[in-house]
Amino acid sequence: MKREQWKSQLGFLLAAVGSAIGLGNIWRFSYMAYSYGGGAFLIPYLTALFTAGIPLMILEFAIGHERIGSAPLAYKKIHRSWEWLGWWAVIFVMFGIVLYYTVIIAWCLNYFLLSFNLGWGSDPNNFFFQKFLAMSKSPSQLGAIRTPILFSLIVIWFINWAIEFRGVQKGLELANKIFMPLLFVLTAVLVFWSLSLDGASLGIKAYLRPDFSKLSNPKVWIDAYSQIFFTLSLGFGIMIAYASYLPEKSNITRNAYLTAFINCGYSLFAGFAVFSVLGFMAQAEGKAISEVVTQSIGLAFVAYPKALSMMPGGNLFGAIFFFCLVVAGISSSVSIVEAFVSALIDKFGLNRKVLVSLLSVLGFIGSIVFTTQAGLLWLDIVDHFITNYGLVVVGIAECVLAGWLFDVTILQRHVNKVSSIKIGKGWITLIRFFVPLVLGIMLVGALYNEVQKPYGGYGWAAIALIGVNWIVLTILAAVVVATRPWKTELHKKGGRG
Ligand code: PHE
Repeated sequence: MKREQWKSQLGFLLAAVGSAIGLGNIWRFSYMAYSYGGGAFLIPYLTALFTAGIPLMILEFAIGHERIGSAPLAYKKIHRSWEWLGWWAVIFVMFGIVLYYTVIIAWCLNYFLLSFNLGWGSDPNNFFFQKFLAMSKSPSQLGAIRTPILFSLIVIWFINWAIEFRGVQKGLELANKIFMPLLFVLTAVLVFWSLSLDGASLGIKAYLRPDFSKLSNPKVWIDAYSQIFFTLSLGFGIMIAYASYLPEKSNITRNAYLTAFINCGYSLFAGFAVFSVLGFMAQAEGKAISEVVTQSIGLAFVAYPKALSMMPGGNLFGAIFFFCLVVAGISSSVSIVEAFVSALIDKFGLNRKVLVSLLSVLGFIGSIVFTTQAGLLWLDIVDHFITNYGLVVVGIAECVLAGWLFDVTILQRHVNKVSSIKIGKGWITLIRFFVPLVLGIMLVGALYNEVQKPYGGYGWAAIALIGVNWIVLTILAAVVVATRPWKTELHKKGGRG
């Protein structure tokens, strides 16, 4: 069976960008910049980008391209006892992140529809938590399934399925070739529209005014690094799978730089829309900016709806905004499913169409728990554990594996053979020493906070049952799958270098 391939370098680039640009770019970056020193935050952010983000992106592209395989296959071809690590990455992403990520996209779809008549009414906060989610008091009280969310979820999984089903060229590549330009144009509309609102400059000032004193806080630096890893979709096995579909002649480093720059540039740009709208609302309500800013879910589902209700043409603005979130979300969720699908095809030689159909149904069923009244609580706990531990551990292991247990110069030579921008000793030093060190610091910091008090005040029982079990079970599953015999011959072949 011939390995699927991208039709063009541009198709690959847009798919990588599609994975990287997600909900996080729109609602996480701008808030971070605002609270961590405005314009001054660009210093830790760009430092993290150049010293860890881009080097690791090059590494993941190189692993996928040189070893020619999805994460488990590529890791096995690097070192025979490390196949499980690849499985762990793709399993916890498939049975962790994508399950709740699709539910958030489903909320966005609901809100897209609600936008047309500003259906959240005069109290968006109450609407979101009490009416829309009908949130229960604790993670153990699941309550009922929220049917409007369930219906949107079906739509989202259906779109995911349709894209995945059609394969790399006709599915992922085509979808991203449509989605990404569309997303850029619509985001530009939002930015220019929001800049014309009264009070926009107030918001922009708060977003960008540099405060260098914040940079002395180590947390600012640690969070900048963790945002870079998350936003570039590193440590998930995604970029490895995507790069494995590149033809022999492919410019690895240029694609890595472009993916990173487009992703981070998009975050910065979208931040203008976020903060102009917040500035407009602060001015309209006669409040200080600090009283109206929020991030993530609070921003998209409470603050923004409130502002939309006050804005002329707010319904159209809202529809575009939530549509952008849906598009950015779907192009990321398909990349997660692809990392998993590609791993199973490599190992067991399964048929993509059957596999994708089965997985979409399973994924949908797995997502249902997040559509219950306790959904938001579950989502919060699972997200906390996956992004703080799963991702970081895989990142460290990846560097150790490639940098210490393998001759990393094989990857380096390969990259330099095919790429326009060459990598040297500096890159190797970053991969062997610096990136694992930074990730190690992040891990220790997160563990330290964990033992201080249970995350989010949920109580140890919920944390242990949901968070820790999720991690243990996914590792177990990874080891089991890794020890199954190979049904294809792919692992016996070498790399390109
Ligand atoms: N990079 C995406 C974002 O910033 C998140 C993401 C996570 C994408 C996991 C794919 C996989 O939102």
